[in-house]
Amino acid sequence: EPVQLWGGRFASGPAEAMAALSASTHFDWRLAPYDIAGSKAHARVLHQAKLLTDDELAGMLSALDTLLADVGSGAFTPTVADEDVHTALERGLIERAGADLGGKLRAGRSRNDQVATLFRMWLRDAARRVATGVTGVVDALLHQVDTHPAAVMPGRTHLQHAQPVLLSHHLLAHVQSLLRDLDRVRDWDRRAAVSAYGSGALAGSSLGLDPVAVAAELGFDAAAENSIDGVASRDFAAELAFCLAMLGVNLSRIAEEVIIWTTAEFGYAVLDDAWATGSSIMPQKKNPDVAELTRGKSGRLIGNLTGLLAVLKAQPLAYNRDLQEDKEPLFDSVEQLELLLPAIAGMVGTLRFDEARMASMAPAGFTLATDVAEWLVRQGIPFRVAHEAAGDCVRVAESRGVGLAELTDEELVGVHPALSPEIRDVLTVEGSIASRDAFGGTAPSRVQEQRVRVGEVLADL
Ligand code: ARG
Repeated sequence: EPVQLWGGRFASGPAEAMAALSASTHFDWRLAPYDIAGSKAHARVLHQAKLLTDDELAGMLSALDTLLADVGSGAFTPTVADEDVHTALERGLIERAGADLGGKLRAGRSRNDQVATLFRMWLRDAARRVATGVTGVVDALLHQVDTHPAAVMPGRTHLQHAQPVLLSHHLLAHVQSLLRDLDRVRDWDRRAAVSAYGSGALAGSSLGLDPVAVAAELGFDAAAENSIDGVASRDFAAELAFCLAMLGVNLSRIAEEVIIWTTAEFGYAVLDDAWATGSSIMPQKKNPDVAELTRGKSGRLIGNLTGLLAVLKAQPLAYNRDLQEDKEPLFDSVEQLELLLPAIAGMVGTLRFDEARMASMAPAGFTLATDVAEWLVRQGIPFRVAHEAAGDCVRVAESRGVGLAELTDEELVGVHPALSPEIRDVLTVEGSIASRDAFGGTAPSRVQEQRVRVGEVLADL
């Protein structure tokens, strides 16, 4: 028989459209195991406060265990009459423990403090799962770093050839941003590890219940300092939505590069068949759908963040039903990432880079022009003059259709008297890369150091 948590003062049940609008079990059912864990913790503090006898506590806990098993097996599911997960589980408890005992659990708690607590619990577990997925993408990038430690490529600004860099340095740049994403989520958890149980509807509990004990049992570091804040705040959800959106944006930048790198024009890499799709009409096609879905879903993650912020904006304290709209955006962001992360890891880890192609493109577009200017600076020429001279070299080489290293001795001195033939020592991609050997640079020794530090950071996670 249907259980309603608030029927007393109403002469009739809710209208059909009212119930349909109100219902949330189609998305909040995933909170069920957390709700039951919360109920067990709540039963224990009711017992501590002498509101349940030893026998009642034992009966309550065993009914909740049965209910948890039935939820797990699918033997117990919500009905259309259940407004939300909390209502459904109260019905389930009463069916198992009887109305007299089952009806005692609601003392001193409200769905407001329940849902604020359970949502945090779900998000904290979800954030850990997402972090594991991110680690998988990092591992895939590192696999490529370790497979191609010395491969060179044109580094770009404005998507134009800029200076040659190591592919490993470039890939490690993506690793660095993902490590920050992991760090952000870990840091978020410190603020999210606060239980709202005991806040009641908003003003706290009068029944001598211990919110700190509930918090500890549910794996939180602390109970809410302020019961109003406990039930009304959702910045923990918005903050995680940001962390996930930022992660999505970082992933989309990797994705965009994979899309570009696998074009015929670039030809830097080829997708493994398992991580590409074909075309229904063009037999030759191999499409980077994983990367494109990554790019697309990053927009969705941003939407989930902005949608939630819009829901929260200007809500008066404490609980308002608007807050029921807090969950779907986060559930969706997590779900999308759980789909995405293993696929990105697979796609990145199996990319086949064409080292020769990248090496042939590395000096193209006069990427060594900065090296000419800096060589002149080392000869004592002011950078302003050196920059001009290197630009002149580019102009001369371009007009003859050759690279900078092919300029004749005469052409070089013609541009600037200090440009002796020794300049050719730095006019190689390897020489240029090796010269950028300050901390954080693309020189092989520095990239190797960076690789080691990244490994240490990962080992500490
Ligand atoms: N289902 C609601 C939510 O997700 C929790 C219930 C609180 N409802 C209420 N009428 N106080 O926020």
